[in-house]
Amino acid sequence: MVADVIPRPTILVFDSGLGGLTVLREIVGVRPGARCVYVADDAYFPYGNHSEAEIVARVVPLIGRLIAAHAPDLVVIACNTASTLVLADLRAAYAVPFVGTVPAIKPACARSRSKRVSVLGTKGTVAREYTQTLIRDFAQGCEVALVGAPRLAALAEAALAGEAVSDAEIAAEIAPCFVDGDARTDTVVLACTHYPLLLDRLTALAPWPVEWIDPAPAIARRVVALLRAAPVGASAPPAELSFTSGRPRTELRPRLAPFLGGTAVAEAAPGRFDTPCLSP
Ligand code: DGL
Repeated sequence: MVADVIPRPTILVFDSGLGGLTVLREIVGVRPGARCVYVADDAYFPYGNHSEAEIVARVVPLIGRLIAAHAPDLVVIACNTASTLVLADLRAAYAVPFVGTVPAIKPACARSRSKRVSVLGTKGTVAREYTQTLIRDFAQGCEVALVGAPRLAALAEAALAGEAVSDAEIAAEIAPCFVDGDARTDTVVLACTHYPLLLDRLTALAPWPVEWIDPAPAIARRVVALLRAAPVGASAPPAELSFTSGRPRTELRPRLAPFLGGTAVAEAAPGRFDTPCLSP
C-alpha cells in the first residue's frame, strides 16, 4: 500500500496574521495529502509597522523554533513584508527549503496592456530594496506605482473576524493605486497576502476595473514542484493552526474552515485548532 510507505510531507505556512491563509487555501487545494501547519505571529501583527531590524530579529529565531517543533519538509513564508527581507537569512540559517511570497511584479507587468501597474503592499514591503530591484529587473517598460497601505491588512483581519469595515475605509487605502492620465492603471499586484481576503470588496470599490494579481496559485505550484510525492489516495489531515499570542481565537473557527478544506476544522478535536501556541 503506497499510502503506508510514502511519508506524508509536512508544510509549515507562516504569516504575521491570517493573510497567509489565502496561500494555505491554494496549497491545500493542490496538496491534499500533505500535513499543513499554519502559524500566525499575531502577537507581533502587523509586520508592516515594524522596522526591518525588528522583523529580522523576530522572524529568524521564531522560524528556527517552529522548524524544531514541527519538522517541516518545506516552509512557506506567506508574508511579503517578511519575505522581502528575511528569506536570505532564513536560507543561510536553516537547511529546510523555503518558498517566499514576494510582489508579483514580473507577471503583472507582462500582462498589463496600458503599461501602468500598481503594487499594493504594506508600507514595509513597498519600501524594501528587494521590491525596488524587482521593478528594475522586471518592469518591462511599465510605469510602476508603489502604494503602501497603512491599514489594509488590519482591515482584512477585522473583516475576516466579522467586524464591520466600511467601504470608505477600504476605498481610501486603495485609491492611490488608480492612476489616470494618458494611460490608466489596468493591473494591481496584491503584494500582501491579507488583501485577497478582501478581493470582492476591492473589485467592487475600484474606480474602474483592473486585474488584481494574487500570487497564491503560483506559490502553490512551486510547493508542489519542491515536495516529494504525497501518499496516493491519502485524505488530508486537518490543518493545524497556532497563534503566537496564545489567544484561543475559537470565534474564528467557522470563518477559517473554508481556507483549510472545509470539513477539516469542524472535525478537529476541541483544542487541536488552537495549539500549539508558541511564545517566541
Ligand atoms: N500578510 C503580510 C504580507 O503579506 C502583511 C501583514 C502585516 O503587516 O503584518 O505582507
